[in-house]
Amino acid sequence: MTTGNNLSDYEKEKDTFQWSDVEKVFSWHQTGKVNVAYECVDRHVEEGRGDKIALSYSDPVRSENITYEQLKQHSNRFANLLKRLHIEKGDRVFIFLPRTPEFYASFFGVLKIGAVVGPLFEAFMTAAVQDRLDNSEAVALVTTPQLLKRVPVDQLPHLKKIILVGGEDNQQLGHYSFEKGVFQESSDFSMEWVDLEHPMIIHYTSGSTGKPKGVLHVHHAMIQHYQTGKWVLDLNSDDIYWCTADPGWVTGTSYGIFAPWLNGVTNVIRGGRFSPDDWYQTLETNKVTVWYSAPTAFRMLMGAGDEVVEKYDLSNVRHIMSVGEPLNPEVIRWGLQVYKKRIHDTWWMTETGGIVIANYPQMEIRPGSMGRPIPGVHAAIIDDNGLELPPNTMGHLAVKTPWPSLMRSIWNNPEKYKEYFQIPGWYVSGDTAYQDEDGYFWFQGREDDVINTSGERVGPFEVESKLVEHPAVAEAGVIGKPDELRGQIIKAFIALRDGYAPSEELKKEIAAFVKSGLAAHASPREIEFKDKLPKTRSGKIMRRVLKAWELGLPAGDLSTLED
Ligand code: WTA
Repeated sequence: MTTGNNLSDYEKEKDTFQWSDVEKVFSWHQTGKVNVAYECVDRHVEEGRGDKIALSYSDPVRSENITYEQLKQHSNRFANLLKRLHIEKGDRVFIFLPRTPEFYASFFGVLKIGAVVGPLFEAFMTAAVQDRLDNSEAVALVTTPQLLKRVPVDQLPHLKKIILVGGEDNQQLGHYSFEKGVFQESSDFSMEWVDLEHPMIIHYTSGSTGKPKGVLHVHHAMIQHYQTGKWVLDLNSDDIYWCTADPGWVTGTSYGIFAPWLNGVTNVIRGGRFSPDDWYQTLETNKVTVWYSAPTAFRMLMGAGDEVVEKYDLSNVRHIMSVGEPLNPEVIRWGLQVYKKRIHDTWWMTETGGIVIANYPQMEIRPGSMGRPIPGVHAAIIDDNGLELPPNTMGHLAVKTPWPSLMRSIWNNPEKYKEYFQIPGWYVSGDTAYQDEDGYFWFQGREDDVINTSGERVGPFEVESKLVEHPAVAEAGVIGKPDELRGQIIKAFIALRDGYAPSEELKKEIAAFVKSGLAAHASPREIEFKDKLPKTRSGKIMRRVLKAWELGLPAGDLSTLED
């Protein structure tokens, strides 16, 4: 085995590391009372770093630098506003905003009063918004007048207060202007100290059955965000860091908010849409040193060509990472050529809360491998009985319980939570993988029907449910179809109702229906009409058979097929 520079350090850490050592970095290890917003923001001010830029924000029309002191004050004002509106510790407050400075001030304001924050992806449409606010019984929402149109307020009995960025007060409707509200409030706030196990954030994520699940994380998760920020993101206090993920997804919070700000770096937030020029310009203008993104984005940048890269000065970039889907060896080789840097793959999930497997900066990268487990966490390949499998054997990718950033529950759904822990002592990820002789993990696929399109997890059930709401659709089955750029695309097989004839027009109309009702990324890119869909005798659509049709493979055991 060839070794990287400091692989021996990694080996040493692996044997001796204890999470309790990380706790000692924080003052709360004495009191047991904590608030992640304090550790991300206020602490840096108290320790004399108030003038440092915390948030370097830009979009095509607005650009703003916000210091740690200002972020503290903005979030204090917002916390005071929530208090005035009688929002309480433990309440769920959702944020449905584009990633603007108001998003981040609100985010920390919610945490400062001990409420639970729920970030929503800006592109969600009505059904997606409704499911999440309904399931979480959110009492307050921060949004804009524009996005409010996608919030079915009359269907959400728990939702009492709506704070509008760029909107007006309207007492009767429970609307409060964000700007007016925060302007009236004091910038002093006395932090609500909570227990380590106090709920912090809910992220909704998809499984293969049922509605999206509310994955709950607690304040204690911060020690993993902090420490992986050091080990894997390689953050030092003078770094300028950019995570391209939206805070509606877990990467955009664990590594777009918590890890960088716990480590006191300057965090770059770029609003607006993706384009290769825009992204390279963002790296250049901000002098970004550490960059965390995703395979689909790297593939798109690769597709845009080397000439685009050459127009920009990317010489400050020191470290590049990737997460969310398999990172092709070809992309790593290309990255090495044009960025003169290796892209470091990392593996984790909404449920794991933080990075579990990674290619460390000091570690030799094996292109195509996700890397090795971080110290303090034991990941393994196991069989159905929980026995660890020998090298080069495919099995369930599992993580020994517990670890600091592991989810603590699925909101309102203890049964779903239990499903992850059916093999005693293990969290079973639903991914299959193998481990080589040197402990590197190699991703093989998903064990369930969850679709990963451009790194976004889409549950086929959610899409199917939306599809059958269309008047022409009798039945629908949805699968992920392999795609070079996006990893997978969503393909829907549809049986039409009597009186409807298949046509290209109808395909477009149905796709647009999902896009406007659920979310653009959940809309099928391909639709195929079938007279009948394969179903079990109990009426369940067999996605396995649809997949076999698609790939031209044998469909396997069909004994439960309807006829
Ligand atoms: C997939 C994103 C291959 C995997 C942080 C996992 C990956 C799911 C990788 C979680 C990787 C994540 N290589 N596949 N490096 N990282 N995945 O919850 O299937 O949105 O189970 O979390 O993405 O997606 P989630």
